[in-house]
Amino acid sequence: MLSTLFEQSKKGRRAVNFPKAKTEPSKKLPAKFLRTEAPRLPEVSELDAVRHFTKASQLNYSVDTHFYPLGSCTMKYNPKAHFWAALHPKFTTAHPLLPAWAVQGTLRLLKELETSVLEITGMDAMTMAPAAGAHAELTGILAAAAYFKDKGEAQKRKKIIIPDSAHGTNPASAALGGFEVVTIKSDERGRINIEELKSHLDDSTAMLMVTIPNTLGLFEDDILEVSRLVHEAGALIYMDGANMNALAGIVKPGDLGVDMMHINFHKTFSTPHGGGGPGAGALLVKKNLEDFLPVPRLAQRKDGLHLIESHPKSIGRIRSFNGNIAILIWAASYLASLGEEGIRKVSRQAILNANYLRVLLKEAGLAPFKDEPCMHEAVFNVDPKELNGVKTLDIAKRLLDFGFYAPTIYFPLIVHEAIMAEPTETESPETLEEFARAVKTILEEARSNPETVKSAPHNLPVRRLNEVEAARNPVIRWTPN
Ligand SMILES: Cc1ncc(COP(=O)(O)O)c(C=O)c1O
Repeated sequence: MLSTLFEQSKKGRRAVNFPKAKTEPSKKLPAKFLRTEAPRLPEVSELDAVRHFTKASQLNYSVDTHFYPLGSCTMKYNPKAHFWAALHPKFTTAHPLLPAWAVQGTLRLLKELETSVLEITGMDAMTMAPAAGAHAELTGILAAAAYFKDKGEAQKRKKIIIPDSAHGTNPASAALGGFEVVTIKSDERGRINIEELKSHLDDSTAMLMVTIPNTLGLFEDDILEVSRLVHEAGALIYMDGANMNALAGIVKPGDLGVDMMHINFHKTFSTPHGGGGPGAGALLVKKNLEDFLPVPRLAQRKDGLHLIESHPKSIGRIRSFNGNIAILIWAASYLASLGEEGIRKVSRQAILNANYLRVLLKEAGLAPFKDEPCMHEAVFNVDPKELNGVKTLDIAKRLLDFGFYAPTIYFPLIVHEAIMAEPTETESPETLEEFARAVKTILEEARSNPETVKSAPHNLPVRRLNEVEAARNPVIRWTPN
């Protein structure tokens, strides 16, 4: 286990010596701002500090070092060329409060990104201000509320229908936006249960929130019928488009009857995974919802690009400045390097890889939740009764011993003992085969020597942690004795 720098500290040991201050700071600052005792900083040499951080970095799991089959989270490789573009000093030295005329180059890039994303999704207008997918969802919910208010229907349309396979952020965003959440069960095919949907659709329905492909990795193949029914009831379709990495270049949600949707730049366009920010999401809408989008809005005028700061129907600002620009430049660079055909290839490859992994894991002994071709991710369930009591969690922990990041487990919630694997498009067949071999070995161990699996991990700096205690009582700060 790596000790902290505080534990390594030796009184008087130094990496840098600062010259003595010419003026005593206590003479310049009001007394109430002065410390009464020196801060407890670690005292180490430069080499101690370098070794400490180098060793700490080597303990990291990352896409750059390991296969990361985390379903739903889409841990895509982030090509370094796009990082280089985002870090270009011409971008990084621009202050966020500079007027639009002084940052025309950056705005043009954002406009090009907007045009590409609208083309890929078949939607009409968008904002790239949200800091993450979940933030874009909340922005969409607030825009929908403003839309119904404008139509004089805000009082009656209070209900948002969400399938039980949805990502937890969907009901959370709907509730935060002041709506009542109605959960509908998926049918035996893992898709929206149309009969149950019909039974809830009425003039109190504001919206159906649907994820496509859904969190079981399946395409909602009844979506045209679903959108017809929802629109007949006067409600809107919100598509959680976080999984667009399976559709980009193949299906345009705008053609499916979707009124509003979000995308996660990190899941689809290869920016680092924000995890609730500081990433970037985009909310995309059809023409009739455009006025309700947040400000500032990017607008092309004769004399160049402008950031429109107000609109009478807009829900207003949802974050500071103009979005997470560095991340957006990264995404723009990714899209520009791929082009239309490239983006289609990425989606196809993501689907192909997920299906190859689905078949490999099935052959290794895991039961697919739905034994049919999937989109970008595949879900399996484990039966501890058949594995001497070995559970999904045990398999995930044992995979760490084999040098793999564990797939997503216990999600979607509707799948008992779920394992959800998403390889993404950049993994080679050999990596997927190696992963499947590890799963096969673990399942064999579960049958012959279950204790090895139940007590894993064995090869990591820390063994099994008390995760409940860690979640309920997180100790995230080192405290001196
Ligand atoms: C289907 C789905 N919806 C919503 C989200 C939330 O996105 P974010 O983590 O950017 O807030 C995710 C995250 O991966 C997701 O997979």
